[in-house]
Amino acid sequence: MGSEQPETYATDKKTLPFSEQHYFSSYDHFGIHEEMLKDRVRTLSYRNAIMKNKHLFKDKIVLDVGCGTGVLSMFAAQAGAKHVLAVDMSNIIEMAQKVIDVNGFSERITLFRGKLEDVKLPYDKVDIIISEWMGYFLLYESMLDTVLVARDMYLKEGGLLFPDKASIHVAMIEDEEYKNDKIHFWEDPMQLYGFDYSPFVKIAMVEPLVDTVDNGAVVTSHYKLIDFDLNTVTIEQLAFHRTFRLKATRDDRVHALLAWFDIDFPSDTPENVVSFSTGAHATYTHWKQTVFYLDRVLDVKKGEEISGSLASRPNEFNNRDLDIELEFNFPASGPDDSRRTTGKYNYFLR
Ligand SMILES: C[S@@+](CC[C@H](N)C(=O)[O-])C[C@H]1O[C@@H](n2cnc3c(N)ncnc32)[C@H](O)[C@@H]1O
Repeated sequence: MGSEQPETYATDKKTLPFSEQHYFSSYDHFGIHEEMLKDRVRTLSYRNAIMKNKHLFKDKIVLDVGCGTGVLSMFAAQAGAKHVLAVDMSNIIEMAQKVIDVNGFSERITLFRGKLEDVKLPYDKVDIIISEWMGYFLLYESMLDTVLVARDMYLKEGGLLFPDKASIHVAMIEDEEYKNDKIHFWEDPMQLYGFDYSPFVKIAMVEPLVDTVDNGAVVTSHYKLIDFDLNTVTIEQLAFHRTFRLKATRDDRVHALLAWFDIDFPSDTPENVVSFSTGAHATYTHWKQTVFYLDRVLDVKKGEEISGSLASRPNEFNNRDLDIELEFNFPASGPDDSRRTTGKYNYFLR
């Protein structure tokens, strides 16, 4: 099936809503793929998960949802898959075809250009689905929706998803210096050429910050907010509302809630299970962490608790963006004191 161009052209980009055209165009350029390939935690986790479980891939039909440059498809082919079907809507698929050809995989990997939701695959069912769909705060981009559509359309009964588990975690951080730089900057005419830029404070607060946080800034315990089992979760369940409880691990000042995600791949033997974390305690990944600033500072003492809840749902106008609502109570329990405070914030991850 070797070819110069991907075989089919299932979706006419011009017919997609502008926000979708924009989304897929963001994957056209090689730069974003360079960043993903250079993220060795990400890419080696997929390679290890596939290679340590070669026996699961041997002679199997594999579907790669959103193949990009084709790297995961080539891992699956190296692991012995009989045939890999690789789908991508973005123009990067033309480069994927060249890469697959020069690496000698054209007979075993077939590329399909278009949205997964529209392509016509040559098999009714596949044995394994591989996909790298994770966005900032795990769910930004809503690409998991597409993987769940692929699961329901194509995955055989008992088939495998790589990865198959994902979880979101939170903790509180001390972040005075950075909060000054990102939020209080807008309140400081001295830094703004004598002008009043205070209208910007509100919009700076509303956007969670995606950046790397030093693990030393974490001043509470960690809390697993939600676990997703990709084998069973529905698209509706990706909108969630969960409570949390965090215990201060030292006396300090709290400026923000920190969120990150962990990923697990399946195996039939515990020692071959591959996992990675995008937390501040783990090695850097291009997902970094997500920081939600509070509009006030909490003076916490070791052992005290902060309780709260976080709700996340796709934005109604662009479902790839997320509306996130955070509430907290401090101290979570104990005698009333002058520091008692509650807060409720709306954030918009776009
Ligand atoms: C995060 S990148 C991963 C690329 C590659 N699998 C890798 O690991 O380097 C996601 C890719 O999925 C594609 N994609 C997202 N949604 C898709 C859909 N509904 N149909 C087809 N391709 C999609 C994007 O164009 C992008 O190239």
